[in-house]
Amino acid sequence: MKIDILTLFPQMFDGFLNESIIKRAQEKKLVTIKTHDFRAYSQDVHRKVDDYGYGGGQGMVLMPQPIFDAVEHLKTEEAKVILMTPQGRPFKQETAYELAKEKHLILICGHYEGFDERIRTLADMEISIGDYVLTGGELPSMVVTDSVVRLIDGVIEKDSHINDSFHNNLLDYPVYTKPVNFRGMKVPEVLLSGHHANIKKFREEESLKRTKARRPDLLEKR
Ligand code: ADE
Repeated sequence: MKIDILTLFPQMFDGFLNESIIKRAQEKKLVTIKTHDFRAYSQDVHRKVDDYGYGGGQGMVLMPQPIFDAVEHLKTEEAKVILMTPQGRPFKQETAYELAKEKHLILICGHYEGFDERIRTLADMEISIGDYVLTGGELPSMVVTDSVVRLIDGVIEKDSHINDSFHNNLLDYPVYTKPVNFRGMKVPEVLLSGHHANIKKFREEESLKRTKARRPDLLEKR
């Protein structure tokens, strides 16, 4: 898979792209992730990318030209263009599964007050990562990239995402490691028993119990 991220702040991605699982996925050539500063596409002599909004109001608005040119330059037949915006479709695990099947994603990060409405016509999909407003689409595009890349075959063990929270609209079951007794808090006996069927049953019950208590809305979707 290829992921191109359009941003005015490519340095924000340095840590994210160069650590841990996302770094290893790139080293293993399972994904190619590139950031592109769309200021480089500005035709303005001062490389301007934003201006005051027509009709007044506060803040600067991203102009269509640099973003249109950048997308047109990067676009392939297979590309899915995604705009990061709080007005987009709420991002869910199922959206991550859907996007993990794609061959090429182009993520557009807005910034400042907003972007010119005509930029919307470039997008196949608009995504919001939650009902709050961030200073830009950079963190949302990292959230989307992270959750999609870990689902690409070979990035992590398949079993680990089959047990993920939100898989089948259930929260994950509790897990424990050493020691068996930590400050009086003990690992449930069944996990030490080696009895696989009982462990499986315990986990299913815990998963359901947890979802009922914390996210009953998920159970309604099942
Ligand atoms: N840009 C600013 N806030 C955002 C959000 N919540 N989701 C996606 N993009 C955004």
